[in-house]
Amino acid sequence: MSKTIIDKHEQHRLDQLGEYPFARLRQLLQGLIPNPDLPFIDAGAGEPRLPLPSFVQPTLDKHLAGFSKYPTTTGNDFLRESIAAWLQRRFGLKSIDANSQVLSANGTREALFAAAHALINPNADSQPWVMMPNPMYQIYLGAAITAGGKPYLQPCSKETGFAPDIEGITDDVWQDTALVYVCSPSNPTGWVADEVYYTKLLKLAEKFDFYVLADECYSEIYYADKPIGLLEVAQNMGNTDYKRCLVMNSLSKRSALPGLRSGLIAGDAALIKQFSKLRSYTGPGTPLPLQHVAAAAWADEEHVQDHLKVYRDSLDAFFDVYGGTIPAGSFFVWLPVADEEDFVKKAYVEQGVKLLPGSYLGTEDQQGINAGSGYVRAALVDGVGCASELAKRLKALFG
Ligand SMILES: Cc1ncc(COP(=O)(O)O)c(C=O)c1O
Repeated sequence: MSKTIIDKHEQHRLDQLGEYPFARLRQLLQGLIPNPDLPFIDAGAGEPRLPLPSFVQPTLDKHLAGFSKYPTTTGNDFLRESIAAWLQRRFGLKSIDANSQVLSANGTREALFAAAHALINPNADSQPWVMMPNPMYQIYLGAAITAGGKPYLQPCSKETGFAPDIEGITDDVWQDTALVYVCSPSNPTGWVADEVYYTKLLKLAEKFDFYVLADECYSEIYYADKPIGLLEVAQNMGNTDYKRCLVMNSLSKRSALPGLRSGLIAGDAALIKQFSKLRSYTGPGTPLPLQHVAAAAWADEEHVQDHLKVYRDSLDAFFDVYGGTIPAGSFFVWLPVADEEDFVKKAYVEQGVKLLPGSYLGTEDQQGINAGSGYVRAALVDGVGCASELAKRLKALFG
């Protein structure tokens, strides 16, 4: 019997993906009304809300004519050179070649998703593991599944110090692992990988021949110590070609330009070549005027320092009122609660605050545990005054 088109597509890999966290949040809050007596605080999405850096408008004006040209899919030379120079300055890299080791991306989201498609090679008999933290930025999960890999979830719990566990993984799992996603600083937990962690992971990558992909889009948002980068650790280990390593970074958080859709991919030249081939077919070039803004942003640190001060002051303001431990990185706070959905609904109705239930950022692991359960995530993206008001309102919910 011949199959209909519907039958043919019944088992589409996309069907294995759940609703995106923000769609679930909309459903959870549907029909509820935020407290009308209080100014609404949206701490749900991790969207920086800082003033536009001063170079954006003049750069755009100057290069407007570029909209009438096709950009290259790899990013034009001037942008890749600006990115390479930033990587060298920021991470002390002795060499990174703008031609063979750097690509432009339309933000890290697109690149993180494409990574699994570019780098893993499943076949009918074997689906490789794609490792990722749990809870996580959901793109890793979507990428692993749609690319035909099997997600392996590394619990990031209080017990692991919120580090994705690498100690309890057996050799046969490592043997079948193709790719490991690391997020440092982490959304949502604020954990930051140190040199010891990255070194252990890179030694395992060498032994079992898998790729390590670090999502470092929060690298410029930290409380005390500047986070170390994966490429920096590879270099310190003598892996100066960054073999098996890719990093992704973005101007969305660093420069508070989430609408620019501009980021970077850098590392192992062989993986960059593979990625580049994928991009030559999928064609996601960044418009030229936006590439010029991006190049200017990577070259400027002043606005980044201004932003950092706001985030640090916001963390201080929040924890002065709320109490607890300040996370090492990112602008998220990850708060333990008894029932996360119930807490999010109460915060909305009683305190006019939008939060995200932690379980929506996780999924059940091999043991059936969702390490995001029992937490809510709040984004401190509205400045210092709002951070302390948010802490006051959330504290009030505990009575
Ligand atoms: C951990 C993480 N990675 C990647 C992204 C994607 O950011 P963009 O595509 O804007 O670079 C986000 C955005 O919230 C994020 O939280």
